[in-house]
This record gives sequence, C-alpha cells and structure tokens, in this order.
Amino acid sequence: MTETRVLDGRRLAEKVEQKLAGEIAAAGAKPFLAVVLAGKNEASEIYVRNKQNRCRRIGIGCEIFRLSEEVREAEILELIDELNANPEVNGIIVQLPLPAHLNTAAVLERVCPGKDVDGFQPLNAGRLASGFPGAFVPATPLGIMRLLEEAGAKFCGLHAVVIGASPIVGRPLAALLLNAGCSVSVVHDKTIEIEKITAEADILAVACGCPELVKGNWIKEGAIVIDVGINRENGRLCGDVDFSGLMGKAAVLTPVPGGVGPMTIAMLLENTWRAYKQQHNI
Ligand code: GUN
Repeated sequence: MTETRVLDGRRLAEKVEQKLAGEIAAAGAKPFLAVVLAGKNEASEIYVRNKQNRCRRIGIGCEIFRLSEEVREAEILELIDELNANPEVNGIIVQLPLPAHLNTAAVLERVCPGKDVDGFQPLNAGRLASGFPGAFVPATPLGIMRLLEEAGAKFCGLHAVVIGASPIVGRPLAALLLNAGCSVSVVHDKTIEIEKITAEADILAVACGCPELVKGNWIKEGAIVIDVGINRENGRLCGDVDFSGLMGKAAVLTPVPGGVGPMTIAMLLENTWRAYKQQHNI
C-alpha cells in the first residue's frame, strides 16, 4: 500500500498567478491577449470566459473576438492578420475546435509565431518537437510539467507513458518529457493492450477523453499519475482516471477538478507575459 499524495493544481496556479501579477504591476505593463472564438460551442464559451477573467485579475487585458458559426476562412484569416499587425496585441489564441468547414491547420499557421501563446503554430510546435530552444509551449502540457516538478519527479531515465496523441496535449507533452530525459511511450485508441504499457510507467499522463478509463490494475505501485481528462457523466465531473481506484497505489495523483485544469490557464497567462517581454525587449 502506497500513501498517495494528491496534488493541488489550484494552489500552484494561484502561486504562479500572484507572481505574474507582481511582475506585471512592477513593470507598469499592460499586456494584451486576443482570443478568437468562432461559432457556438458551450464548452469553449466557458473556457474563454475563464481565460478572460483570469487575465483581468492579474493585469492582462483580454478581448474575445467573436465570429459567426458560418464565418468564411478568408474572414478569420483577415482578423488574424490584423491582430498580428497590431503592436498593442501581445498574444493571440484561436479557441478550438473551429467550425468543421474551416481548415484548422491553415488558421493556426497564420498566427505570428512571436504572438502564438498557445504554441500551436508549426514553427513553435516544430521547435518543441526538435528540442530547439525558444518555443512557445502549449499551456496544458506546460502545466503538467510544472505539476510533475512540484511532485519532485526526477525525469531523467524514467519511463513516461502518455495516453492520447492530440496536438494540444499528448504530442507536445511527449516532446517535453523526452526533452527532460524520459523514455516516452505514446499510446492511443489504436494501441493493442494499452494496460500492459501503462503498467510499466513511472509517470503516466492520461489525456484521451475517456471517463475513468485507467483503473488501479493498469498502473505500477508508486507511479506518478496525471489526469488531464474533463468529462461530464450524468452531471458529475470526472477525469480519465478512476481516482478512488488509484488511491493507495499511485504515489502522486492529480484530482479532477482542481488538478491540471487551473494550471492550464496559469501557463497561458505566463506565455502571454513572456510574449510581451520579448516584444518589448525586457
Ligand atoms: N481547446 C481545448 N483546449 C484548448 C487550448 O488549450 N487552447 C485553445 N486555443 N483551444 C483549446
């Protein structure tokens, strides 16, 4: 029986945001984040409102640029061009998913790499994947790495297993873990006998959107487990990990809610402040 430490993502995010607020105030700066939101998506509405509130609390201006569900690709590209060219705008994010008729890759590619605080533009994604310095790194994997550091994880030589290969979480997280010295396995919905691979993991990060997929018998005693899932089951919020089933077996576990989620926004704010500093040579 292992005593499980449950990581508090809210507390860590609060600490990060207090530090950012102090730096921004001390510099007398007014960073600005532009959020592009196309179409109607209930979850996206909640996410962008949370981002805007958290920006404003720490002294970052934030405006949501709303476009209709039927927006033409040329219109969204024109808006991004305007935001790229506006020196008052330091960071730009395009909330995903976009309406299905739009070419997501073409839209994300249009964001100026120096304002790409989501890290989805291919120059930043490529730098991260190549282990080159200077990339803006997507907020969720960056938040996960901070949580792992908080847990005292010694990355070098450990076997990290990532469930899920999305460009938002799984792929960039695998690159970060590899760059930190882990041996990394990425498993996904085509993988045969996932649980044989997860049972070998020293660090397991689960980002597949399958409610409570990972059971106690999928993990090694003493593993560090990060749950990235946010699922709603009969009105109840749950992660991709069977939380109670892993208590007493994992050494470290993140809760849902209150684990990775709050860290994601804190890292977006940190990226926006970094973009501002780069653009002002401070
Ligand atoms: N949709 C789900 N997660 C994210 C994110 O981190 N950034 C953006 N822009 N859209 C998302």
